[in-house]
Order: sequence, then C-alpha cells, then structure tokens
Amino acid sequence: THTPVVDVLVGKHAVGETVTVKGWVRTRRDSKAGLSFIALHDGSCFDPVQVIALNSLQNYSDIQKLTAGCSLSVTGQVKASMGQGQALEIEAQSIEIVGWVENPDTYPMAAKRHSIEYLREFAHLRPRTNVIGAVTRVRNCLSQAIHRFFHERGYLWISTPILTASDTEGAGEMFRVSTLDMMNLPRNDKGEVDYSEDFFGKETYLTVSGQLNVETYCAAMSKVYTFGPTFRAENSNTSRHLAEFWMIEPEVAFADLSDVATLAEDMLKYVCKAVLEERADDMAFFAERVKKDVITRLEALVNSDFVRMDYTDAIEILKASGKQFEFPVEWGVDLSSEHERYLAEEHVGAPIIMQNYPKDIKAFYMRINDDGKTVAAMDILAPGIGEIIGGSQREERLDVFDQRLEEMGLSKEDYSWYRDLRRYGTVPHAGFGLGFERLVAYVTGMQNVRDVIPFPRTPGNASF
Ligand code: 4AD
Ligand code: MG
Repeated sequence: THTPVVDVLVGKHAVGETVTVKGWVRTRRDSKAGLSFIALHDGSCFDPVQVIALNSLQNYSDIQKLTAGCSLSVTGQVKASMGQGQALEIEAQSIEIVGWVENPDTYPMAAKRHSIEYLREFAHLRPRTNVIGAVTRVRNCLSQAIHRFFHERGYLWISTPILTASDTEGAGEMFRVSTLDMMNLPRNDKGEVDYSEDFFGKETYLTVSGQLNVETYCAAMSKVYTFGPTFRAENSNTSRHLAEFWMIEPEVAFADLSDVATLAEDMLKYVCKAVLEERADDMAFFAERVKKDVITRLEALVNSDFVRMDYTDAIEILKASGKQFEFPVEWGVDLSSEHERYLAEEHVGAPIIMQNYPKDIKAFYMRINDDGKTVAAMDILAPGIGEIIGGSQREERLDVFDQRLEEMGLSKEDYSWYRDLRRYGTVPHAGFGLGFERLVAYVTGMQNVRDVIPFPRTPGNASF
C-alpha cells in the first residue's frame, strides 16, 4: 500500500515518518547544490507534493532525465519544508521510475499553460492538468453532496431506464436506437419504417429525461430522485449544451410548485456549501485562474434567499430595461439565454426562481394554473450560465390532462401508463431537473460545459 499525496500534505504522517507515494511528475527542477525538486501529483488534492531527490540516490542520473508525465513510486521521509509554497515535503530514500515519457517533445501535456480548447483535443490526457484535475474533484464533491442531501431527507434514488419509447419533453430531440439494417429498412404498405421487426418491436430512443418513469415511483414511494445520463440531439453548438449530460430529477408526492422551488434552493445551497468546505484548494485555484469572484458568488448563494419572480413580471422588466435584445420580448415568448442572463446578472445579480410560464412554451405534463394560460413551472436562472434547473408541478387531474393531450395532438394510448397514475390514487406532485454540468460550470466558473464532463459529446464529436 502507499499513501495518497493529500495525506502527506495535510500532515496525517508525522515529520520523520517514512511513506511511499505514487503518482506523476508535474515538474522537475535541479538545484546547483546537487539535488532535484520533483512536484508529484496523484489526483488526491490540488497541490502536488514536493519530493527532494539528493544526488546520493543510486539512480540520480536517471532522475535528472525525468520530465512531466513520468510515473514514479517514491519512498522517503516526511520533512518540514524549508522552501516556500508548502509546509511539508518528502526527502526521497528511493525513487522507482515506473513509466517513462517516451519522447518528451511529443508529450501533449508538457508543463506549461495550455488553452482550454487545446486540452479538449486530449480528453485522455487532460485530467493530468491542474484545471481538469480541479474540475474532476469538484464534480465528484458535488455528486456525493447531492446524494447525501437527498439521502438525509429520506429520498430514494431510483434508477430510471436509458432506453425508452417515450419523448418526455416532447421536443423531438431524441437519438434513435435501432438494430434494424439501415441500408435495408423494412417498410409497411404506406412506405413507413416498420419497427415491429426492430429489437423492441417499436421505435426506441435514448432517454431525454427520467421524469415520467420516476413519477411512477413517486406515486408509491413519495420522495424519489434520479441521477443519471440523459441525451438530447439538439444541434446547438453553445457553451451550455451537450448531447449527453447528467441530470438530477427529484419528484415529490403531496407537494406543489412552491415546495419544490424551496427544495431546489435548499439543495443548491447544501451542495455549494459542501464545495466551499471540502474543496477550498480547488476553489482557490478557480478564483485565481478562471473567475475572480467564483468563491464570493458561492458564498452569497449559500447565505441569501433566492429571488422568486413570475414570468409575466420578468417580461415587463425586460421591456422596461431599454436593452436591444436579439430576440424581441413580448408575453408568450420563451426566454432566450440573453434574457435569462440579463435578469440574473444585471437586474438581480443572484439566482432567480422564475415561475408560471405560458403553457404554450412548456411541456404537456405541467399543471395548468387557474388563469388557464400559464402553467405551474419554474426555472432557476443563475448568473453566468442562465437556466440550470427546470421543473414544475405536474397535472394530476385526469380530465385536465386528457384535454391537454388532445390540444397537443398526443395520443392517450401512448401515455396509458402515465394516465393510470391519474386514475388510481392521484396526488398533487412536483419535481425538477438539475442539469449537472451546468451546475459544475456555475460552481467552478468554467465557461463551457465541455470542460466539466470527462468526455463531452457535442455535434460532430464523440471520440474516445
Ligand atoms: O428543462 P429540462 O428540459 O427539463 C426536463 O427535462 C424535466 N423533465 C425535468 C423535470 O422536471 N424532472 O431540462 C432540465 C435541465 C435544464 O434546466 C438544464 O440545466 C439541463 O437540464 N439541460 C442541459 N444541460 C446540458 N446540455 C443540454 N443539452 C441540456 N438540456 C437541458
Ligand atoms: Mg428547460
């Protein structure tokens, strides 16, 4: 066994104790005094550990050839550091070179500052950089905190399917899954593709959301959530859209829109607090290198109440702003990202819970309000990124639901199981979906969701 670098740096081992650490070289620097300083990282914390290699080491001539990326096993004594930048270091008794970098000139992650676009071309090596290492730890911290938050409140984690026949959001942005021979598709007399010969006997897709499935468990287990990958074939090449992203979707029985708005606010505060407490090292790096106010912004989020605003009022605010928006504002339009960002960044300066949208721009399952023209929907808009959460109270009244299906030209048969939940012991219920990558981008200040997921899938890009 060996010791994680973090344990050495936080002082879990007494000065004078012998430890073994294993990891990758970030930098090597030789001093004139006949010794080398090696910065060794292993992913366990932001800082690498400084290893002192004296020229009395039997393989010192090899050590002087070490370059960024070489892998090592170092055994040595924990020492109080005389240098600046670290309290503790390791004076090596032996250094085993586990893996050389075969030609340092070809190593893409050489120790210098690379552009984030450049790093995207090396999805397999970029986790070795400071920035992607920090993102990876914060992302992990956030997912653990999300599970902890729901677990502490009695929510059950439900695994919903990835393969599905239903289009939850009704936006037609689904990836089709098929075992049919594309070059020789079976067709019926009308010339349509005959999916009865397909693997599942009908048209099947990658899920866009686990919501409809998790609603069925909500109607029995009361408080549930999903946390899994979702897929959208929307051809938007933006800094906040991915074709494959992770979503957290809680669903609560005997709850209304205001209840889940509060749940969403509590959850965001809980997980942001966890990051501030558990990943101070990585956050300090983001504040220094990526976005200056990223920590103060999180602290403000944790310590203040979110602003709740009605869609109708937001439209008035946008109109009164005197701004020239690319998309004109009038009641009934969907808010574009420039609208969302104006409201969250310039008007309020903090996350907004935007509520009660026109029904015509929202999904079929949302509960119609008494005014007949809006639905009990909410989006949470965060400064710098816009919508990070979308949610609603669900239509639990069978007659109203059926009317909405008809209005939208959807068939009762396709939603028969979903209608059953309204036929047998229906209850008011509500939920939301948090786009996980948008949350990670918000928390770290990273500009693009492609850099907060290990292997981003975007139009034209699914390598690795
Ligand atoms: O607003 P959306 O489409 O809502 C739903 O899917 C509901 N079924 C959720 C629910 O009520 N259970 O998506 C929810 C969130 C968005 O607010 C956004 O943060 C994220 O998912 N999202 C994306 N993130 C990255 N790339 C994309 N292409 C995304 N599309 C949505
Ligand atoms: Mg949405």
